[in-house]
Amino acid sequence: MKKLFMMLMLMLSPALVQAAGVTCGDIPHCHKAPVDLHNKESLQNGAKLFISYCMGCHSAKYLRYERMAQDLDIDPKLVAEYMMFTTDKVGDAMDPKFNQKDQAKWFGNAPPDLSLETRLRSPDWVYTYLLNFYPDAKRPWGVNNRVFKDVAMPHVLGDLEEELGPEGYEEAVGDLTNFMTYMAEPIRTERERLGIFVLLFLALLFVPVYLLNKEYWKDVK
Ligand code: HEC
Repeated sequence: MKKLFMMLMLMLSPALVQAAGVTCGDIPHCHKAPVDLHNKESLQNGAKLFISYCMGCHSAKYLRYERMAQDLDIDPKLVAEYMMFTTDKVGDAMDPKFNQKDQAKWFGNAPPDLSLETRLRSPDWVYTYLLNFYPDAKRPWGVNNRVFKDVAMPHVLGDLEEELGPEGYEEAVGDLTNFMTYMAEPIRTERERLGIFVLLFLALLFVPVYLLNKEYWKDVK
């Protein structure tokens, strides 16, 4: 019986660790990213920001416009009209097919594909990075970054930061990071939903197994 209980706890432990959330870690000036994959409004705003401000230089080639439209409840017609600048096929990957050699020449370093960025770095890293551009006259774009020293990327959200003020900017960047977290693992919400069913199933299964176990050993003791 104890063993059975231990087994159940062991099965549950990854879910418990995940629910507790990991801390910011050793990122300088770390801010915890407000990730909420169930907040459709935030994800939709993040998608809009990502497509208007980031896809001029970065691809997101592991995500398709159609999938994004479905997952985030955005009308595919709106996606086609306002979000697709480089293709007319909604089934296409979000990949403007940049010439990375040219990009490397223009910027010093090529802007990497961002599909998996929040998994490579972490959502907190991306959020903190976007909040930490600062003026630096010695750099080619006049900006530097406290998280990514001497970064080759300009502060592309500088105008937005000025327009929205610190709080509004944090919120916008939060939505953007939320979207990028969704993008790195579009199946996550679905998997979590399934996970809950699996846990419920295990919990229910526990009852007959426990009773059977008791019945089985009844005469032995
Ligand atoms: C004008 C081109 C340009 C735009 C627009 C742009 N970036 Fe970048 N980005 C770059 C370049 C170039 C790098 C590579 C920096 C380096 O390696 O020094 C980069 C790097 C990054 C990195 C770090 C990647 C790593 O090494 O882990 C992140 C994160 C990032 N960009 C996010 C964004 C987001 C989010 C947006 C939209 C708000 C955006 N970028 C818009 C040019 C751009």
